Amino acid sequence: MSAAAPLRIGIAGLGRLGRRHAETLAFRTRHCRLVAACSPVASELAWARDKLGITALHEDLDRFVRDAKLDAVVLVTPTSLHAAQAITALEAGKHVFVEKPLALDAAACEQIEAVAARHPQLVAMVGFVRRFDPSYVQAHAHLASGALGRPFLVRSQTCDQLDPSGFFVRFAPTSGGLFMDCSVHDIDLARWMLGNPRATRAFASGTIAVHEDLAPIGDIDNGLGIVEFEGGARAVFYASRTFAHGHEPSTEVIGTAGKLTVGVGAARDHVVVSDAHGVRQQSVGDFFERFSQAFEREMQAFVDACRGERQAPLTLHDATEATRIAQALTRSLQSGSPVTLV
Ligand code: NAI
Repeated sequence: MSAAAPLRIGIAGLGRLGRRHAETLAFRTRHCRLVAACSPVASELAWARDKLGITALHEDLDRFVRDAKLDAVVLVTPTSLHAAQAITALEAGKHVFVEKPLALDAAACEQIEAVAARHPQLVAMVGFVRRFDPSYVQAHAHLASGALGRPFLVRSQTCDQLDPSGFFVRFAPTSGGLFMDCSVHDIDLARWMLGNPRATRAFASGTIAVHEDLAPIGDIDNGLGIVEFEGGARAVFYASRTFAHGHEPSTEVIGTAGKLTVGVGAARDHVVVSDAHGVRQQSVGDFFERFSQAFEREMQAFVDACRGERQAPLTLHDATEATRIAQALTRSLQSGSPVTLV
């Protein structure tokens, strides 16, 4: 690919998030062209053809990643497929963007790292979108300046609005569970904000508040985790799938000389309505509404990295460590005991 040529990208997975990424790549990302799509679902491919004008449509991922007209692939597929698909794509010589979490267990993540290390000319980036959110970027810069002293405690939450359609219950079996699917964002943020310390011990507890159908697969809809890090730093995570009012991610970082908070509450905008029923604001509905700007910046960062214009701001190893910690929390939930990480 010449430096001037746009990056030719294909996307696999056109579900809840895949369609959003596809629109971002097709309409709002510079120096790339979305030229192929892959899904086992015919109606999803028809959507890509009709709405995005894509003509290279694949039902089979192996053929998709071998498409000689592609420089890079974006994988927005069920988490249980990420590891095998990312490896197939790297071995086919494609740059890879893979949604979070990188894989369901740390050993699979390490396999992907090993394959990526054999192809150093290829970019492999994981979708920890909050690292591209302007408020989180500003928070990280403020901590890095030393203005809050030594950060030693993170309290972070990912809380989704209750979805009565049953999507989460259908989605849960391939997601790795609540900590792997939701808290993995907070885990990645905690490591980033704390300077990437090594996790040593994890303890988790949880409950089912609404989605009783999660019980047979051992999942929960509200969970709490505590993680200890080498050097004394600590993190507390909360994840929920049942907030009544909206999507409410937030993160508090406490340092020896002050603290900062990102994302208090779930207010959609600055409009406050006061009437006979009280004083209130509209709330953010879902992750895409909260992080739409970050999703655009994330895709631009991937394209720029593939074109050699800047380095991807996070590594596969970061994603491996996030999976390792989420896996330890899940094991602790199942066993009822703290889990030691070595
Ligand atoms: P979804 O279930 O709505 O979509 C999955 C898509 O993958 C569907 O289009 C399905 O047809 C397709 N698919 C299934 N098997 C396939 C195969 N073998 N080859 C190609 N495509 C295949 O799921 P959703 O919510 O879009 O999640 C997808 C991924 O994105 C998950 O890994 C999830 O963790 C991640 N995600 C990340 C978010 C973030 O904040 N960064 C938010 C939501 C999801």
